[in-house]
Amino acid sequence: MNEVLNAIKNRRSVRAYLPTQIKQEDLDLIIESGIYAPSGHNDQPWHFTVIQNKEIIQHISDKSKELMTKSQIDWIKNIGLNSKMNLAYDAPTLIIVSGNKNALSPKVDCSAAIQNMLLAAESLNIGSVWIGLITFFFKLEDEIKKLGIPDGYEPYYGVALGYKVLNKELTAPKRNLNVVNYIR
Ligand SMILES: Cc1cc2nc3c(=O)[nH]c(=O)nc-3n(C[C@H](O)[C@H](O)[C@H](O)COP(=O)(O)O)c2cc1C
Repeated sequence: MNEVLNAIKNRRSVRAYLPTQIKQEDLDLIIESGIYAPSGHNDQPWHFTVIQNKEIIQHISDKSKELMTKSQIDWIKNIGLNSKMNLAYDAPTLIIVSGNKNALSPKVDCSAAIQNMLLAAESLNIGSVWIGLITFFFKLEDEIKKLGIPDGYEPYYGVALGYKVLNKELTAPKRNLNVVNYIR
């Protein structure tokens, strides 16, 4: 299989990280891969906030979890109540991906950028996971003001990056393959 197909097939959501920081040159390549994603109307509406401060990442996780405890949805509430859980799995790098609200399709475009980054990370043997649960943190206006996100941009998702702890084989959740119909 070629390299691209290998990265697509082998990428897994990684939920255990070594504390060692990833190399700046690898981070640059991962962000560049995000920047090379397709975007509606070629708006390129993304912005990346790279957080490499353990305390700030922990704070984002704690604040998100505080709000999650108020959720009506049991599994979300339970994660909020789990004092040991860090939503970024103690990864040394957390990237917050924000989109320009005036673009044609900013959230879709940012999602394409994120997927490119996850695949680039895999190709560099760096672990990653897309983090939706920190959207709880994004509800806290005073908090997001501190992140230096440009005016007119809205934070959508987080991406955790770091070297994988490989104490168990990461297996792909079973895929439902019955999702295609053909018209010929
Ligand atoms: C929009 C989105 C949000 C996600 N949010 C989280 C999250 O907050 N925490 C987490 O551990 N995984 C999160 N994931 C990862 C999924 O759980 C994961 O992709 C899925 O279980 C399939 O596993 P795989 O990535 O190893 O193929 C998210 C994925 C997407 C696309």
